[in-house]
Parts: sequence; C-alpha cells; structure tokens
Amino acid sequence: MNAPLAIERDGSVAVIMLDHPPVNALAHRLRTALLTAIERLDSDPTVQAIVLHGAGRNFIAGADISEFDQPAQPPLLNELLFRLESCNKPVVAALHGAALGGGAETALACHYRAATSDLKIGFPEVTLGLLPGAGGTVRLPRLVGWKASLELMTGGKPIDVDRATAIGLVDRRIDGDVRAGAVAWARELVAGGALPRRLRDLGAPEATAELFAEWRAAMPATAWRLPAPGRIVDALEASATRPFDQALDRARELFEECRRSSESRALRYLFFAERGSSLDRDAALRVESAGVIGAGTMGAGIAISLATAGLAVTLVDSKPESLAAGLARVASTIEGSARKGRMTVADAAAAVARVRGSGDLKELSAVDLVIEAAFENLAVKRGLFAELGELCKPQAVLATNTSTLDVDAIAAASGRAADVAGMHFFSPANIMRLVEIVRGRESSRATLATLRAVTKRIGKIGVTVGNCYGFVGNCMLYAYGREKELMLLEGSTPEAIDRALEEFGMAMGPNAVGDLAGLDIGYQARRQWNERPDDPRFYRVSDRLAELGRYGQKSGRGFYRYDGSDRKRQPDPEVLELIRAEAKALGVAQRKIADSEIVERCIYALANEGARILEEGIAASPADIDVIWCNGYGFPRHRGGPMFHADTIGLAIVIEAMRRYEGEQGPQYWTPTPLLASLAEREGTFAGWQAGRADGV
Ligand code: 3HC
Repeated sequence: MNAPLAIERDGSVAVIMLDHPPVNALAHRLRTALLTAIERLDSDPTVQAIVLHGAGRNFIAGADISEFDQPAQPPLLNELLFRLESCNKPVVAALHGAALGGGAETALACHYRAATSDLKIGFPEVTLGLLPGAGGTVRLPRLVGWKASLELMTGGKPIDVDRATAIGLVDRRIDGDVRAGAVAWARELVAGGALPRRLRDLGAPEATAELFAEWRAAMPATAWRLPAPGRIVDALEASATRPFDQALDRARELFEECRRSSESRALRYLFFAERGSSLDRDAALRVESAGVIGAGTMGAGIAISLATAGLAVTLVDSKPESLAAGLARVASTIEGSARKGRMTVADAAAAVARVRGSGDLKELSAVDLVIEAAFENLAVKRGLFAELGELCKPQAVLATNTSTLDVDAIAAASGRAADVAGMHFFSPANIMRLVEIVRGRESSRATLATLRAVTKRIGKIGVTVGNCYGFVGNCMLYAYGREKELMLLEGSTPEAIDRALEEFGMAMGPNAVGDLAGLDIGYQARRQWNERPDDPRFYRVSDRLAELGRYGQKSGRGFYRYDGSDRKRQPDPEVLELIRAEAKALGVAQRKIADSEIVERCIYALANEGARILEEGIAASPADIDVIWCNGYGFPRHRGGPMFHADTIGLAIVIEAMRRYEGEQGPQYWTPTPLLASLAEREGTFAGWQAGRADGV
C-alpha cells in the first residue's frame, strides 16, 4: 500500500502532498501520517512555510465516513487540526476540487487559503445527519460571520471559488497550477515576515440572542425530521457564547449525539449504497453521441440530461409537431436552468446546440447509444427495435425506457439482444436522479457496463435490476398502493392516508402521487398486466375514478379536487361517497383506521415485497432496493429505505405486525416471504444477510 502522503521540498517551503485515493478522505492512516509530517516540519529549522495540497482531483473530501460506525481511533481529526493550527510557521492550504466537511475544516485550521477555479468548498455534514465536528462550527464564524456560517452548515450546499472569496473563506485565487501558486504565495508571506494567522486567536463576532432563535424558527418543517440542523444551530450558538475550547467541546458532544442517531446511520448507509458496486469501467464502451426516440416529456427530459452532460443528441420523432414541441421544451428547460443560475449562459447555449431533431430513424445509424422513449406499447417498441437492430452500427448499445413491458421481448425483436437492455428513467427525467438499468436475459456485460457509465456521467444513480413486470420499483409500488387502496375501502380517506404517510416522511402521499401522475396511466398499465391479483378489491377505487374520467390534476379531479386558483388539493366529498358505495358493493365493512396502521400496512407490505424480489434475484441487494425507493419514490432518506427501515424497527417486530394483519385480512397478501420469516426467526437483518452473501456464507 502506498504512503498516504509525501513531503516535497521547494526551497524553504515544504509541500505536504496528501495522496490517499480516491478522494483524500481523512481516514486513520492519513490522519496519523499527517500528524507526523506536521510535527516533523514544524521542528525542522530549514522549513519556513508549509503548503498543504491534495493529489488527484480533490483537496480533501472530508472525514472518512466509513469510520463513523466504529469507535474513533486517535489521532482524532479535532486534535490533528489543533496541532496543524498550532504550527509556528505559516501554513497555506492549496485548495482545488472538493474541500468538503472535514476537508473544509482542515482548510480553516491552515493559516492562509489559496484556491483555483474548480474549488467546491462547503459543509455537507447535514446531508449525512451530522454537524461539522472538527472545529468548523467554531472557526468558520470567526472568519465569515454568523449568517454565512448558518447558511453553509444548515444548507449543506458547497460554494464555488467566487462566493468563497467574496465571504472571505478563500484569501487568494490562483489561475493555473494551485500547488505552484500556493508555494509562490508562501514565499511571499515568508519574505514579508507574515506570521501564522490562527482563527482560534480571533474573538467570535458579536451575535444577538435573537439571531439563532430566528434562524431556528425559519427552518423548514422537513429540517426538524433530522436532529442535525437544530444541533448545528446549537453548536454555532455555543460558539457565540462560550470561549473557543468550550465551544469546541460542545460541538463534539453534539456531533456524537448526531453520529449515534438512527437518522445519521440511515443517511450514511445511503451515501455508500448510492455509490453501489464499483463501475465495470473496463467493459464500458465509449459513448459520445446518442439518439433518443420519442420527443414527449420523457424523451425531451432524457435528451436534456444527455446534452447537459456533453453528449451530442439526435432527438427523433415521426410527428413533426411533436418533434418541434420536444425541441422547444429542451431549449426552454436548459435556458431556464441558466436563468436560475444552475449553469452559465454559454454552457446552456452549447447544450442546446448539441441537440438536433430528426423525423428519420435512419439518422441514428452512427450513434453510440440509442434510448427509446416511444409510446408504451409492445408492438410499437418491437417494431422500432427491429429497425434499430438493422440500421444501428454494430457496437451501438440500444436501450428501452419501458416501465412495464418485457425487455426480453423487445430485445428479441432487434436480432441483437446482447446489445439491448432497459434504461428506466423516472419522470421528469432531467430532474429525477434514479435510473433502473434492466438486465435482459441476453444483455452483454459491455451493454450493462456502458449504461451504468452513461448514467453516472449524466449525474444520475444507476441500479441494475432484473427483468420482471414493473422491475424493482414499480413492482413493489403495487404492494404499497394495494394496501392504501384496501384501506380506502375499509374506511380511511385519501387525505388521512396521505397525511399519515407524509408524516412518516414520504415526499408525497400515494393518492396525491396518483393524481399527479395521472390515474389513467396506472389504469392502462393494470389492464395490460396479465398477472394482476384476482381480487375485486385490488385498485378498485383508482379504477373507478379513472373510469369516471377523474384522471387527477390534469382533469382537475381525481382523489382530490383541484379547482382553486392555486390548484391546491382539496378533499372531495364525492370521492368519499364513491368509496363508500364501492365498499358496500364489495361487502367490505368500514371502520376508523389509525395512522399507525396506515403506515405499518403500507411500509411493511413494501418490505415483504422487497424480500420476495431479493429471493427471486430481481434486486441484487437490499441496498439497491433502498436506493431505488429513496431516489425514485420519495421514501424518507433519514429512514434509509424500506429494507433499512425494517431492519431498524427489527424484523421480529415487523413479522409480529404482519401476522396480526394476516389474522385480520387473510393470508393472500400478508404471508411473510421465507426470507423475511427466516431472518426474523434468527433475529437477523437484511443488511446482515447481504453481508453474509458477499462473504460467501
Ligand atoms: N469518506 C469515505 N469515502 C468517500 C468519501 C468520504 N468522505 N467521499 C467519497 N468517498 C468514496 C466513495 O464512496 C467512492 O467510493 P467507491 O469508488 O468505492 O464507490 C469514491 O470515494 C468516489 O466517490 P464518488 O463516486 O462520490 O466520486 P465523485 O468524483 O463523483 O465525487 C466527491 C467526489 C464530491 C468528493 C463526493 O465523493 C462527495 O461528496 N463525498 C462526500 C463529501 C462529504 O460528505 N464530506 C463530509 C464527510 S463528514 C465529515 O467530514 C465530518 C467532519 O465534520 C468531522
């Protein structure tokens, strides 16, 4: 194993080059080596200044998140940074790429900060349910004041070099090689007799008592689902009212409290789960150009994602008016991103220019990748793939964006099934980060690796799944939706169900989601589903609403009515009448249903279905399921996903509730899958089961 850092000399300036791939995270090895290096250089009389720099694309991406599940090993980051700041000669941070979390705190412990234009500096700890625990909450306000500190730490969004310079977080901007620039500056500092500038020697800026109270009051309700945002404000308030060392101790206590919380454990788990299995880089084919078939909302969204990431896109639609509308949508969405400051005007113009339209499929003969997003009909898609199989170049990868159809049946029509797989985007495709990559029976390793690589390149999270009706996400959605539909018949209301699940943390309740997606869409999909349960209660309410033309938001009526000028959802007495009538017709007795039952039935049904999908090999791991549900279906991230949540509750408790529902409702839906039952029996967890499989147990 290579040394995690190297010391290079440039005359009287010593450069500590951190070299701990992939991102210079401050793991125990690196902390130990850095402490030794600092002590050595501080006592070396031939060294007059020190530059701290990171090899590779980043300065330091933070503490090593994987270490937070184990007891902390000295030297703690806090102690290391205290020693760094104590250095008796000027220390310059040469910042580039990511300087995040503990990386930004390291920069604050240095005496001077130089940075290049690609810097992303910030405190994303809150996204992991944590707070900056290595002095950031005490040092940052001394440099940039309270408001900027509150914003940076409770918001968690990194800032660029312009903003960092404007608020005083970066002292000097360097064009070109940051190492060389920082060394030159260190020399200037020495020549000018500059002394170490320690933030801990500065007093904290004045703060009124109201400042923190007002900040807490203004935090969105969702922030209070996590302990971290409130604790960050507590830690900053402690910095305003206590001396440096005491404030730092308080921040450590609060950090530990957050680290131990189930919310932070869930978020840290997702951090690694979303990075998933390593990309199969060797097998991936080069993709620089792509064709997208179908210029509707989905096709345009896919084209936007590809073009924004630098790919040349040909958007194909046989209907000229649809093509024109799709191209207009692409241009207006990308230009809108520039107006909102998410990209520069020049980058937006370049992205729009990368998309061209065509009415002719033959124009895709030379592209590296085709993504078909045409009408959801097997005959249509098979026809298209038969043509693509003929006309596309031999190495091209062909993907279908179907959400319910059989990928193998589509692949077979192409005559080159090894090149075909599913690429299931979620709507709106330019916003939603999830893509299910559907492995067909004959999809080649190169095809799957290429789709994973493209997904990563366009900034999305790709999860490889097996081919079955609805793949992983929508297949599980049927279990979740089934329970809420049954509970409507049993006496609950759309708003009670949505409120209970939103309270649990779902981004939106299932009835509101149905109205947003269009109840006609689900209705059509269920008609085409051969294996739907033989149960007259199954999606009965949704089906009736769709049959009455109540399609949801687009028709102004669905589970709710949307007739106010703000189009906000309103309960609709007509729907309650309809539900009552359906229940009566089916002989379902109505009763009051508690919020706890609503949540348990919907969420435990998901966990049981997830276990079944794991048994069948449709999902490769519980973590994949959790990533899909947190990124495609609004499952609360602080609960980690349905499988992690079930583990957290305890599988024995989950099974106990399921047995109760089995007794009340019958076995049809509530019999635990063998995997869930056997794990619960031996007090196991899905995570433990997965780890055992990975170890070949
Ligand atoms: N700890 C451990 N591993 C990390 C890590 C970290 N802080 N940051 C990244 N990694 C790992 C990833 O798991 C991935 O591993 P893999 O190759 O085995 O899958 C690898 O590094 C590359 O990461 P990405 O795929 O995310 O690479 P990108 O180039 O897309 O992004 C990045 C780089 C912007 C640095 C991104 O990785 C990132 O945002 N990292 C996390 C930053 C963060 O949250 N820092 C705060 C940590 S908590 C902290 O510092 C607490 C302190 O206050 C005490």
